Amino acid sequence: MATPTQYAIVGSGNIGSALARLFARAGIEVNLANTRGPESLLPFAASLGPSVHAVALEEALGSEVILMAIPFPAVEQFGKSRGDWTGKTVVDTTNAYFTPNADEILQGRLSTQYAAEHLPGAEVVKAFNQLPANTLAAELAPEVGKRVIFIATDSPEAGDRVAKLVGDLGLAAVQLGRIDEGGRLIQARNSLVLRNLIERPLH
Ligand SMILES: NC(=O)c1ccc[n+]([C@@H]2O[C@H](COP(=O)([O-])OP(=O)(O)OC[C@H]3O[C@@H](n4cnc5c(N)ncnc54)[C@H](OP(=O)(O)O)[C@@H]3O)[C@@H](O)[C@H]2O)c1
Repeated sequence: MATPTQYAIVGSGNIGSALARLFARAGIEVNLANTRGPESLLPFAASLGPSVHAVALEEALGSEVILMAIPFPAVEQFGKSRGDWTGKTVVDTTNAYFTPNADEILQGRLSTQYAAEHLPGAEVVKAFNQLPANTLAAELAPEVGKRVIFIATDSPEAGDRVAKLVGDLGLAAVQLGRIDEGGRLIQARNSLVLRNLIERPLH
């Protein structure tokens, strides 16, 4: 049996498409899925080149690292797509900010704490949620520097895994620590959200 592609993006809207563009630019293999099936994604995947594969949701869920790029209200339903998420790293790109009944849903929890409760067994990493999708996907000339992506997680190993991915995508990872510590700063719309920071080498 073929080894499953290591990375998957679930959600092909604004943020899922932006992530797919980053993977394509870096030449990193990734599965891309949505609710409508792979046929709906074939033209877009083909336009990005050979590293982006349009797949069914079930196949995407076989990947080790799953970038969850779906609306916040869909998180609960998405969590039910596997009974046990053990062995999976789920990257939470969602923001609850525009969800009308967010306070009622969150009941004082951070949005990624809520997501983790619906992904039992997963190592959940909050990342790629802090910038507008078009900013995230915009290419920077090397002399300008690398766009900063903040990462927060309660699993240091998963944080390192996602930081490596961020670096491989040509971006600069800044790990902020636990979800309830640094992760709070990237909960929309706290202080590090919508901050388009660029890392430059020290001189
Ligand atoms: N838009 C931004 O600039 C931005 C920036 C940072 C973070 N975010 C966050 O990123 C998340 C996605 O935002 P977006 O603007 O990309 O949304 P979007 O354009 O509406 O796209 C949502 C995608 O999620 C898919 N989806 C919905 N429920 C699903 C489920 N249960 N299983 C699998 N796929 C599912 C949809 O599938 P179909 O295509 O089949 O309908 C669609 O492809 C949100 O939580 C948002 O807060 C957005």
